[in-house]
Amino acid sequence: MKIFTAKLILLGFTTFFIGCKDANTSDGTITATEVDKTTLSEEQLYRPNFHFTPKANWMNDPNGMFYLDGVYHLFFQYYPDGNKWGPMHWGHATSTDLVSWKEQPIALYPDELGYIFSGSAVVDRNNTSGFGDGTNVPIVAIFTYHNPIKEKEGKIDVETQGVAYSLDNGKSWTKYENNPVLDNPGIRDFRDPKVIWDEEHQKWVMALAAHDRTQFYGSKNLKDWEFLSEFGAGTGAHGGVWECPDFFPMHVDGTSETKWVLLQSLNPGGPNGGSGTQYFIGDFDGKTFKMDPSFSEQLSTKKAIWIDYGKDNYAGVTWDNVPDGKRFFIGWMSNWLYAQEVPTETWRSSMTLPRELKLIFSNGTYKLLSSPIGKLKNLYGQTIVKKDIVFKKKTVLLDSGNLDLSRLVIDIELKEMKDDKYTFTVENDKGNQLFFGIDNKDKYIFIDRKKSGKIDFSEAFSSKISRLPLNQNYETINLKLVFDKTSLEIFLNGGEMAMTELFFPEVPYQTLSVESSNKDCKIAILKANEINLTNNSNI
Ligand code: FRU
Repeated sequence: MKIFTAKLILLGFTTFFIGCKDANTSDGTITATEVDKTTLSEEQLYRPNFHFTPKANWMNDPNGMFYLDGVYHLFFQYYPDGNKWGPMHWGHATSTDLVSWKEQPIALYPDELGYIFSGSAVVDRNNTSGFGDGTNVPIVAIFTYHNPIKEKEGKIDVETQGVAYSLDNGKSWTKYENNPVLDNPGIRDFRDPKVIWDEEHQKWVMALAAHDRTQFYGSKNLKDWEFLSEFGAGTGAHGGVWECPDFFPMHVDGTSETKWVLLQSLNPGGPNGGSGTQYFIGDFDGKTFKMDPSFSEQLSTKKAIWIDYGKDNYAGVTWDNVPDGKRFFIGWMSNWLYAQEVPTETWRSSMTLPRELKLIFSNGTYKLLSSPIGKLKNLYGQTIVKKDIVFKKKTVLLDSGNLDLSRLVIDIELKEMKDDKYTFTVENDKGNQLFFGIDNKDKYIFIDRKKSGKIDFSEAFSSKISRLPLNQNYETINLKLVFDKTSLEIFLNGGEMAMTELFFPEVPYQTLSVESSNKDCKIAILKANEINLTNNSNI
């Protein structure tokens, strides 16, 4: 669909080009089909275009992601019989480009040991597990069994760890006969194993959430695990239970140095309430993870450093076995505060955009950068570029039928704007308005959903404005924004910080405008790309 502004203005505000396939005419030109946006179905209005959602029913955390033979596998917490959380299975989806997904049959079903909670999967190339048959590479999934009977009885040892393997690239799975492989040591919340092959110390290492600590276990064969150490006492955020860790080494960009990154989700206690994911950077000697002194120094003033400051990026982890040492991350784009009430009936929840992580050393410490993966470019349609926009009063920047499917890059000059607040508004003619922007006086980026559309399903959804604190004076700020019908993902200065939030307008937003609170301000450059799966050159 190759329209942005011009055609839309001709059409007026009641009809739009969205959510429907382009028709290819016999002369090869593409015409878009008109849809009356005032009567859009839930599917057309809220089903994301390039973010993964299950066809039907409930989804939460991403699980067991691995890459093999050109295919990215994504498993996820799934309840196939309802649109709220229930007995957990592992759903399954595959993609060759990380932007278009194909849902596959359910991979793991609950059994007599319990529901199948979150966990990971590894490609066991050297058949250390012995699950291989000499021909096929075993994929080994390590997950938590959550026993609902013990839970009802009020027992402590509700959660244990089990494994299953696949000899056909993740299509079918066999549970290991001697499950569980790791018994409960007397900790009620004891879950979400994330396993990696530690090349340096020649063993498998598991990071596991244990109440509000991360525990590390080691194994040579993925079946016998020994306790290595525990991390987290007295550091980071502890407002809730720690869940879904991830632990991996990364090269520090542009150096020969390697550091270990620990992602650690927790709920509640996130940066803007409810669910959130903090990270720590340091060294691992095969037994103990020790934070880098420069990183722990930051934590003495900041309490926690988050991979995303929005309310809707939780339980995110990374893919195993991605070539060239790349680290791709995906999160669950929701928050336990209201995930079960969001206004979609057919399905509930989507994943974030897959993001590429990079580790840099800057201003005396380590930082984890996250940016949308490069393959997103395959979906770009028409581009609009505007330069040197000077504004004070509310000024329309884009008036576009495809604003709900778009990527915007905005460079804002802040040097002369010490006391100003820039407010961007995306809105529709129903009066739904989503606000976001930069407060350069009190130094934060914000997203305000108070008037964003449907908000009455949960008080926690919009009662507070979400803030991302800016810790330094920037002369210019670069914002990359990705909209996909019900989500906005903001990446700041090349991925230094991110902010992800959902919204549910009654009809799609159709204009983007900006205003400043004080004096004339300047947007140095605004670049807008329509973004849509129907543009995918790969499918
Ligand atoms: C995180 C989480 C995990 C658990 C799963 C259950 O969102 O609570 O700790 O394994 O969801 O669905």
